Amino acid sequence: MSGPHASPPRVLEGPIEVGPGDWAEGEFYKLMTSLVIPRPIGWISTLSEAGARNLAPYSYFNLMGSDPFYVAFGSHGEKNTVSNLRKVPEFVANIVTMHLLEKMNFTSTDFPRGEDEFSWAGLTPAKSAKVRPARVGEAKAHLECDVVEIVDDRNTHIVLGRIVHAHVDPSVWRDGRVDPKLLDPVCRLSGPAYAGLGELVNVARPFWSSVQGTHGQDAMPRAVKR
Ligand SMILES: Cc1cc2nc3c(=O)[nH]c(=O)nc-3n(C[C@H](O)[C@H](O)[C@H](O)COP(=O)(O)O)c2cc1C
Repeated sequence: MSGPHASPPRVLEGPIEVGPGDWAEGEFYKLMTSLVIPRPIGWISTLSEAGARNLAPYSYFNLMGSDPFYVAFGSHGEKNTVSNLRKVPEFVANIVTMHLLEKMNFTSTDFPRGEDEFSWAGLTPAKSAKVRPARVGEAKAHLECDVVEIVDDRNTHIVLGRIVHAHVDPSVWRDGRVDPKLLDPVCRLSGPAYAGLGELVNVARPFWSSVQGTHGQDAMPRAVKR
């Protein structure tokens, strides 16, 4: 092991220096999921080959590209979502907002294969525009995706999906765009911890054209409360 700790110490007297295999199983996982926060949640709906609906949250999830537009999410182990995608390579990433937090969490139950999480959680399957899996009717936004690739590395399965269609509910729209406060997204922390959006600030994007010829930080855009 690298560094002086064989497992996470209760009190830290110096910096932690640790690699993925250094601590007992699960401890590095806890460290990673407590450092990469907040994470958005992709609430992924898929269809089995037999046509059964499946819905589960994935917070190893994010937007990965814009030309074309990609999302990616990662599964620890071959879960139903991934097995479904190998047969029916289309999914919807439903955006999780605070009013759906408990239902989203409930759909993470280890239901046996074939159980319909929409029905267990009292959610309405809504027809998608371009993919076969249903959307969560109660969600305020949805990204419909085609699977381009599934990267399998030991127990990690990373699904790369190209976005083919988006839906946005009018209730989250203000002044020509999605208003983050109206969207009210769930931010995943680690374990059972979640957060809503806190204070919002704006910081202008810097450009070389206005930075060159200045004394560096004089040109640094400042954060302004919204
Ligand atoms: C908020 C939240 C985020 C989660 N993120 C992930 C994740 O990124 N990867 C993963 O493998 N499991 C994740 N899980 C656990 C899965 O949702 C859970 O194992 C689920 O039963 C998988 O369902 P499936 O077998 O239908 O795909 C998460 C659970 C919750 C509550």
